[in-house]
Amino acid sequence: MSLIDPLSVPQLAARYPRAPGRVRHTLTGHRLLGYDALAEAARAMPPAHVETRVGNAVDGEGFRKVEGAAPPDETIAAGGTLPQWTMLRYIEQLPAYRALLMELLGELAPVIGPATGAPRDVKGFIFISGPGTHTPFHFDAEYNILFQIAGDKIFAAYPPAPPFLDLAQREAYHRAGENMLDWTPDFAAAGEQHLLGPGDALFVPHAAPHWVRAGDQPSVSLSVTWQCRTSRAVADALRLNPLLRRVGLPPFDPARRRSAPWVRAAAGRVGHRVGLL
Ligand SMILES: [Fe+2]
Repeated sequence: MSLIDPLSVPQLAARYPRAPGRVRHTLTGHRLLGYDALAEAARAMPPAHVETRVGNAVDGEGFRKVEGAAPPDETIAAGGTLPQWTMLRYIEQLPAYRALLMELLGELAPVIGPATGAPRDVKGFIFISGPGTHTPFHFDAEYNILFQIAGDKIFAAYPPAPPFLDLAQREAYHRAGENMLDWTPDFAAAGEQHLLGPGDALFVPHAAPHWVRAGDQPSVSLSVTWQCRTSRAVADALRLNPLLRRVGLPPFDPARRRSAPWVRAAAGRVGHRVGLL
């Protein structure tokens, strides 16, 4: 049986890679995604890759790690009911989960391949969120498809462009990994809000800012993320910007130029290699 409903895949083809797009999946009840299996995965992973944060943050500053949190494997095994957010980062380091990620991307290959080429740097994240948990406004410089496994979530996605995301914030991400964004109530009406229940999945475009709120039941989601040749070039070109400014040349801005910055990317890689960046 397919993991992704083949009838829903053409809907994604009409949206990928620039706009959020939905598909349906059959992962609910999958042996790797129940609470017991996830608790075992948490035990098998390095502690640094199992993060627990508060569930009621209103902004990135408040989205802090829970001090003295109960062992995450125990809270996961108990059904993720605590008002907090737990993430299993880089789940692909466990072979069974890596196989699952690759199987999912394999079923989406007819959509992804023709538009952005074979996925690279495939990573997986599992989010176990207590009722009402809020993930503040932020962005991730990767393509992402979020599979909702248990409970409901509202996922609000925004265009990766000003005023939601500006060039300085993109550069800070590639320089220091900062990905939290300032939120203003004026943004509320501008996002595309998707209500996701078990069996729903949402593709999120590269670098699209978003916030997420779990519903009134414990929530489990699986995110599969990847890069393509162009997104890697964008990252390399963004790293070159500070040097270009220093010598009086214009920086590269992905929101203004959509074609791939191959020459700047090559220069960025060379600059990095020789220690200029
Ligand atoms: Fe995110």
